[in-house]
Amino acid sequence: MEIVICKTKEEASKLAAAVITAQVKKNPKTVLGLATGSTPVLMYTEMAKAVKAKKVSYKQVKSWNLDEYYGLPGTHDQSYRYFMNENLFKKIDIKLANTHVLNGLAKDPEKECKAYEAQIKKAGGIDIQVLGIGSDGHIAFNEPGTSLSSRTSVVYLTPSTIKDNARLFFKGKEKEVPTRALSMGVGTICEAKKIILLAFGKGKADAIKGCVEGGISQFCTASALQLHNDAWIFCDEEAASKLTLKKYYAWRSATKLGL
Ligand code: GLP
Repeated sequence: MEIVICKTKEEASKLAAAVITAQVKKNPKTVLGLATGSTPVLMYTEMAKAVKAKKVSYKQVKSWNLDEYYGLPGTHDQSYRYFMNENLFKKIDIKLANTHVLNGLAKDPEKECKAYEAQIKKAGGIDIQVLGIGSDGHIAFNEPGTSLSSRTSVVYLTPSTIKDNARLFFKGKEKEVPTRALSMGVGTICEAKKIILLAFGKGKADAIKGCVEGGISQFCTASALQLHNDAWIFCDEEAASKLTLKKYYAWRSATKLGL
């Protein structure tokens, strides 16, 4: 695991976007795994800037998103399909037909999840998977207590995640937040060839501590990334503030990146 610690989230987002831009330039048929939440928004803005400047094209790129709320249509302003359209897909030249988000209204959600896994496999697997992290250490919607080898399935949100995410729903009301979601599993995520996890702010400091320096445990599903051999954490100083070896990680990753 490499931990890149930047002064600001802007700086970290630029670096992470540069990794994705370089990958898509190298392989225009890259398969991306994408994430929602407030954290990757700046990175998506940077990716869009590179497209506008004609440095890169997403015309042949395919994408699969991590998760979707169960029961929300893609037109709902809090659905992750809507989020992706607004924050990335409309701003780059990707073909909408090449973007995939789990269908929150699927009649048979488990069948939908199995089919999603099959699609990813058929595409050759995910080259780069983008991740955020929940304040309880979850990745996608894999809450504490989820098997670290879980596959894409219907999952159940914890009260703490419902509370965290309520801020984005109508009048910030917790009862507006769906209690279930369709989510890529931890095992599915860990099959990506490269992983980029973004984390900003002091609210993520405990989660990053658990992810990087805690034991590998289903209590912090992000800790499964310790077993991945190409996982990069891009964070700001606040999110990294509880790491025992933060100075060492910062020096090592900066050296590797030639910063
Ligand atoms: C949700 C998403 C996660 C995301 C997390 C953090 O629970 N399912 O993929 O990482 O929120 O969101 P934010 O970046 O807004 O803190």
